[in-house]
Amino acid sequence: MSSETGPTGGRVDTVDDGATDVAEETADATAADPTTQPLPPYPSTLDHRLVHSLHYMRDPVRLLERGASESDVFRVHLAGVGDWYQLCHPDHSKRVFLTERDRFRKSDDFGIAFGDGLLTVEGEQWRDQRGTLQPLFVRESVQGYADTMVEQVQRRVDGWQDGQRLDLQSEMTDMTLDVLFAAILGRELELNGDEQVRRAAERLHDWFVPTSYALPDWVPTPARRRFAEGKETLQREADRLLAEAAEDPPSDPTEADDLMSLLVGLRESGLVDSGMLTDDDLRDQMVTIIFAGHDTTTTSLTFALWALAEHPEVRERFQAEVDDLDGPPTAADVEAGRLSVTDRVVTETLRLFPPVYALPRVADDDVAFDGYRVPEGERLNVALHVIQRDDRYFDRPHTFDPSRWTPEFRQQLHDFAYAPFGGGPRICIGRQFALLEAKLALATIGREYDLYYLGEEGRHGGPPLSPEMTLRMEPGQEFLVTER
Ligand code: HEM
Repeated sequence: MSSETGPTGGRVDTVDDGATDVAEETADATAADPTTQPLPPYPSTLDHRLVHSLHYMRDPVRLLERGASESDVFRVHLAGVGDWYQLCHPDHSKRVFLTERDRFRKSDDFGIAFGDGLLTVEGEQWRDQRGTLQPLFVRESVQGYADTMVEQVQRRVDGWQDGQRLDLQSEMTDMTLDVLFAAILGRELELNGDEQVRRAAERLHDWFVPTSYALPDWVPTPARRRFAEGKETLQREADRLLAEAAEDPPSDPTEADDLMSLLVGLRESGLVDSGMLTDDDLRDQMVTIIFAGHDTTTTSLTFALWALAEHPEVRERFQAEVDDLDGPPTAADVEAGRLSVTDRVVTETLRLFPPVYALPRVADDDVAFDGYRVPEGERLNVALHVIQRDDRYFDRPHTFDPSRWTPEFRQQLHDFAYAPFGGGPRICIGRQFALLEAKLALATIGREYDLYYLGEEGRHGGPPLSPEMTLRMEPGQEFLVTER
């Protein structure tokens, strides 16, 4: 594996295409026969296992924190899932995502929800898809999206008024969809329109709401119905974009600058076996990118703006930095380190509030962690949020402190203690896109506006959380917009 300091800090693996050889480490825990080891405990403070589902539905983050306070490996029992094994140490993440990754697979939920998109598929199919999509996400392509990103953000904030109260999460959802569609999907959404597409994208998350996820798949919950409607709407949108791209496919697909043109171009040119790019595959891919690429960036921006609002001393440094820019922020500003405070704000936001706070897998054979067995076929979860708030790695772990991200700190940090984008070959393909978008959006907003948080403190400290598939802020939290 090669490893480098990531653009916002922490260490990220640069094994993007899975082709790089990974020196398999024989981890200590595999030395003993896993089948002889005991199952991990249920947390003692969680009452009987029959009520774990209720705790989970009420507050999954709190449930994980309570379990982790007793043991790095534990299990909870969910009615629709059975025993669910929780891993809370960076050594565990490293084994699951990198050194022993072939012993774990994605759970079926993603496949049921998103078909055969990149997030879901495994093995050869994954390798082919990752290679096919990679050109849209390499550094040069991502830098090419910078102007579009800033234009889209500017277009939206131009409509903000001094003294306005803003439901920030909802506004950031619209903004990240604007950016994703314009930059990657090749279509500019109407600023105050395209409601059907916007609401459909939101509904993709309904598959994972805890009150529904904890129940067996066959239960037709309202959330599952909303999910199905959203997915159908986006599939129709994909068909429309597909038809447009097919009318004028690029002669050289490597020159394509949006998802559908790239995929249609590859299919038409015969560069990729057309059996691999059926219309269904293209639809699945688009729905996957919309799901993976907008809510994650929405929550990062919402939490970063909350953090700036609540930490005046950080806000001052941030504002001094963005005021020093020559004009609207650019990719060159990011490259040249002219947005280094902003960079640390994003890094620290993703530590305290990792949008994907829990990363699920299924064990392909019996495997031991810290002397406890996770049996073959069982679901496990790497608790990123718990790991990134562990005081063994981070001083004052619940405090928002961007200044902790010095080069020395990054250098000595366990390479999986900070992994908001996952790790190993399946690390997020969109991370450079997301990081650039977050920095440019914050700088664009920060040059013109101050935001003040008007909501209450939640029970975790910080704003009230509403953890679903991603760690969101509770809907309806308002911010006051003031012109600077
Ligand atoms: C702050 C923003 C983001 C965060 C925190 C994030 C986080 C993650 C994580 C943790 C994974 C690994 C999932 C796993 O191992 O099961 C992942 C995968 C993925 N992400 Fe992101 N993501 C973000 C933004 C994006 C964006 C902007 C896009 C696309 C435009 C994107 C597309 C994907 C895709 C397609 C995968 C699957 C990659 C594969 O399996 O090869 N993500 N993301």
